[in-house]
Amino acid sequence: MPTLSDLAVRHTALDDADLEWMHSLVSDWQLLADLSFADLILWIPLRDGNGWIAIAQMRPTTGPTVYHDDVVGTIIAKGERELIDTAWAERRICREGDPDWSSGVPVREETIPVRRADPGGSSSEPRYLGVIQRSTNLSSARTPSRLELTYLQSASDLAQMVAEGRFPFSGAEPILVRSPRVGDGLLRLDRAGRVTYASPNALSAYRRLGLTADLVGAELGRTTALLCYSDEPINENLMVVASGKEPRETEVEAGGTVVQLRAIPLVVGGGRIGALVLIRDVTELRRRERELMTKDATIREIHHRVKNNLQTVAALLRLQARRLRVPEGREALEEAVRRVGSIAIVHETLSHTPEEQVDFDDIADRVIAMASEVSAPEAQVVPHRVGSFGVLRSEIATPLAMVLTELLQNAVQHGLAHRPGRLQVKVCRSADRLDVIVSDDGAGLPEGFDLDASTSLGLQIVRTLVVGELSGRLSIEPREGGGTEVTVGIPFPPA
Ligand SMILES: Nc1ncnc2c1ncn2[C@@H]1O[C@H](COP(=O)(O)OP(=O)(O)OP(=O)(O)O)[C@@H](O)[C@H]1O
Ligand SMILES: [Mg+2]
Repeated sequence: MPTLSDLAVRHTALDDADLEWMHSLVSDWQLLADLSFADLILWIPLRDGNGWIAIAQMRPTTGPTVYHDDVVGTIIAKGERELIDTAWAERRICREGDPDWSSGVPVREETIPVRRADPGGSSSEPRYLGVIQRSTNLSSARTPSRLELTYLQSASDLAQMVAEGRFPFSGAEPILVRSPRVGDGLLRLDRAGRVTYASPNALSAYRRLGLTADLVGAELGRTTALLCYSDEPINENLMVVASGKEPRETEVEAGGTVVQLRAIPLVVGGGRIGALVLIRDVTELRRRERELMTKDATIREIHHRVKNNLQTVAALLRLQARRLRVPEGREALEEAVRRVGSIAIVHETLSHTPEEQVDFDDIADRVIAMASEVSAPEAQVVPHRVGSFGVLRSEIATPLAMVLTELLQNAVQHGLAHRPGRLQVKVCRSADRLDVIVSDDGAGLPEGFDLDASTSLGLQIVRTLVVGELSGRLSIEPREGGGTEVTVGIPFPPA
């Protein structure tokens, strides 16, 4: 499916600034479709001037559509749809008298020329870029209510603004979060900022903010400011938005209700005639966001406590080790202390990060430092890391920290027990896997060493974690030039 930009570049003469105007128009024209209860199609003249291409389409969320199929990419010749040609040639909004029945339902057609504000350059010629075709499915039309009349009047004001180059609002910041839509709640203000119409949803939102009086006739800026009165300095944005003077958004809170406001000033024929204010109650949304934040904090606290508990366990084991007379027993306990310690390091790091992700370089460096501490003083082992682990998820980080601890310990205890040497941790990370090579230039593996036959605890832990937990591969080989090289390869499961 080609994008708006693809189609425009391939078929039309629009330049970059024109395209930007088009993008900002279609990012905001849901409003026009909803207020009109109509489908919108954006037609741009073909480069050779002999026809039109549809580069965007919008359906109303407030009424039935006319076009059940996609029309984007459709090309029509000049003369095929007179209403489009006329709006373009005469630079004015055109409307058909009688409904068109050609699609089987009655459709009222209207066309709006699209003008770009401030075309720049020396020429003050207005620049027109295309035509919006607005098609209303009349099959379900009834005698219009007050709401419908207000919508239609507002739609016609907006259409006029499109033709005058005043909508979309140039220079307005792109709206990132979903801003309120017509169906969420709508107010219409007059020039003085007084409410002339309030949709039922908009009125409900103000009731929840604490309004007891009538909204129609009230000055929205003052009314809103009074409802949201607090000791904090007045939210200046609030006054600007609620008075409808500038195209902006804000959020107000009162009585536990949070409401989003979006102002659309109506400027027609050179003068400000009033404004639309869209209103959305976002209380539930904000409550859920807050909940998520506390959940984050809780997870961090849990990691913190796990770390503390592990440190207590390590301290208890150390105490017991000191009391033991049997050297092997004591060594075994001291090793257990180190194993617990390396898990504690991971939990400590996790307790500082909001997500379940950790910068593993930090952890690796601490585990490496821990290993050199246990090496015999005469060995003078200088461990170092090459390459970067980067950020890892905690499901990988915890077992990997254990694995590293065991491998480094082996290098220091067996390979480099009685001689100075080098100890290297080399990391290769790509998009879908992580390879870690721990190598020492020490004594090398004992004669006839077989990883699969090895029953000692250290390598069994390593194998269980690498193969079982991380679905990775493990190999231990003599290093070229003497010593030992252990390779751990872990695939990253798709996130
Ligand atoms: N880097 C190394 N250099 C030399 N020999 C090694 C190296 N790594 C492992 N080995 C050999 O492999 C054996 C098994 O290691 P493993 O870690 O499983 O047990 P361990 O270190 O003896 O005891 P522990 O259970 O306390 O770790 C070691 O006893 C040692 O002989
Ligand atoms: Mg070991």
